[in-house]
Amino acid sequence: QTGMFTYDPGFMSTASCESAITYIDGDKGELLYRGYPIEQLATNCDFLETCHLLLYGELPNQEQKNSFTKLVTNHTMVNEQMQFFLRGFRRDAHPMAIMTGLVGALSAFYHDSTDINNPKHREIAAIRLIAKMPTLVAMAYKYTIGQPYMYPKNELSYAGNFLHMMFATPCEPYKVSPVLERALDRIFILHADHEQNASTSTVRLCGSSGTNPFAAIAAGVACLWGPAHGGANEAALNMLYDIQKAGGVDKIGEFIKQVKDKNSNVKLMGFGHRVYKNYDPRAKLMQETCREVLGELGLENDPLFKLAMALEKIALEDEYFVSRKLYPNVDFYSGIVQRAIGIPVPLFTAIFALARTVGWIAQLNEMIGDPEYKIGRPRQLFEGSPKRDVQPIAKR
Ligand code: SDX
Repeated sequence: QTGMFTYDPGFMSTASCESAITYIDGDKGELLYRGYPIEQLATNCDFLETCHLLLYGELPNQEQKNSFTKLVTNHTMVNEQMQFFLRGFRRDAHPMAIMTGLVGALSAFYHDSTDINNPKHREIAAIRLIAKMPTLVAMAYKYTIGQPYMYPKNELSYAGNFLHMMFATPCEPYKVSPVLERALDRIFILHADHEQNASTSTVRLCGSSGTNPFAAIAAGVACLWGPAHGGANEAALNMLYDIQKAGGVDKIGEFIKQVKDKNSNVKLMGFGHRVYKNYDPRAKLMQETCREVLGELGLENDPLFKLAMALEKIALEDEYFVSRKLYPNVDFYSGIVQRAIGIPVPLFTAIFALARTVGWIAQLNEMIGDPEYKIGRPRQLFEGSPKRDVQPIAKR
């Protein structure tokens, strides 16, 4: 069965869990969602089919896809009150600060009608979250640029609707380009789930207390923000900008020297992984998407993509990275694709959160659906002071 936190009876219990959703082989660089290789899903399916797979365990047939799409489409609007949460933020607030607040705020509308132990309630919470994340991310963006919010358009695809809400204005419709729509949909697929990463483990641990799913997902958003995790896509692009400003390809050697200097605390953002000790399969697909999108847009000579390719080539031949099995991960190329689509850098991690929401809620629902699950309680190996008595202050 699945979803249970199990503890070794031994000293240092490692919080681990069983799951049937995503499988990673870090040495082979293999990623399967419910048994399907990510390469096949990214090529033959769209994001909503992938959501159906992650949530229900099977890819939908056409009829199931139509009804699932209709269900999601009918939940894309958010309560009008959500606009008042946004007004409390400074206009220059980081989109992830806004998203952490907005997703948590969804609890205010649904927590009292959501019994997390009721499978139907868990399913509708999943649908609401998948449906509303694009609307919330687009609202966060519009708020920071002082433009009016755009309501969802039911006739558009999931990715197309997001692009519409992001870039259309009441004065000017946004013409959704099929190339960008497909590229964004693939970005969503590649980020949808990834086994027990930091933010998914956060969602499971938070949800194991029986809190409502919206609050648990908000905890995942907060964890994903970190530069060691989902924040790496924003950091990776800013790293490329910095190298470009310092002189571009000719300055890569100097940058690599900094990375190798332990005192510099400079990391090659978008490289390395807790599990992959081989090339992250998502990075390969992201690089391909980069090439396709830039080619379609006539940007095949994009200096930043060329810089990223040069950096990757040097790193993959350099002993420091080879000996540490550091390869590009999902975050290395995703920023270049998002930038080509027109998404501003500070929004990159919010896009990651939008896509990962289905993985988070599928993992949470899997855990809660297991009658054996208990509240998570990671153990510790105590290394502090032995028991001692308090001394009067005059004697301290
Ligand atoms: C994601 O877990 C998931 O599944 C996450 C994720 C998902 O889909 O949910 O895949 C998404 O978070 C991808 C990772 C994005 N983060 C980054 O790109 C930030 C840069 N990467 C590093 O911060 C780092 O690689 C981590 C945090 C991802 C992993 O860190 P670890 O566990 O320390 O990596 P490691 O044990 O393999 O490191 C071995 C050595 C160490 O040096 P030594 O102590 O042996 O001398 O490699 C060094 C590390 O300092 N190292 C790096 C490096 N990553 C590791 N050195 C330079 N640049 C890097 N990027």
